[in-house]
Amino acid sequence: MKMIRNALNVTALVGLVTALGAVTVAANAQTAQATHDQWRIKRGYQIAPVPLDLKGKNPALVGLGSYLVNAVGDCSGCHTNPEFAPGGDPYLGQKKKINAAHYLAGGQKFGPFTSRNLTPENGLPEGHTFAEFRKIIRTGIDLEHLHPQFGPLLQVMPWPTYQEMSDYDLRAIYEYLRAIPPAKPGP
Ligand code: HEC
Repeated sequence: MKMIRNALNVTALVGLVTALGAVTVAANAQTAQATHDQWRIKRGYQIAPVPLDLKGKNPALVGLGSYLVNAVGDCSGCHTNPEFAPGGDPYLGQKKKINAAHYLAGGQKFGPFTSRNLTPENGLPEGHTFAEFRKIIRTGIDLEHLHPQFGPLLQVMPWPTYQEMSDYDLRAIYEYLRAIPPAKPGP
């Protein structure tokens, strides 16, 4: 009888230790996640190539959005024309300098398609609400209907990849696009 009780105690103890271990692992993962988010927000502010208007915006989302736009999504690679300032083309071995004057203002040509101006119009990216922006990225539907002869969907734009992003990340990108200065497309 005593042996059984001891065995039960040992089992309970093992269970408790395992549970505590799981809690610790979860807590560590949470801390790591928070630290990583902070790191990305900070990096986002470091690499934003233009001054940001934070008035009425969520600063953490803006920072994360900058990280997603400038370090992950390569939005500038297609939506800034030309992408780099004179003397700042890393492909020529020069120190990278983004073309801040026309940053994300569109105008790059891809055959019959031209990248759009993503900078704020009346404070909203391209004048779009978040619901519209989310719909564009999730479905690829061209809300401007700029080229009905090619159908209703945006071409070239990698929305089939971006559509898998979380709402939170899309919100961050949107918040960042609200914070950049309005600009005109490069020549
Ligand atoms: C490979 C080039 C490329 C990349 C990378 C790219 N885009 Fe685009 N994007 C385009 C082109 C080209 C269009 C216009 C397509 C058309 O006219 O069919 C477009 C259209 C859009 C539109 C639609 C605008 C409107 O008029 O409603 C949005 C929004 C957009 N892009 C946002 C982004 C964001 C945000 C990123 C980065 C996360 C990004 N794009 C990255 C090429 C690109």
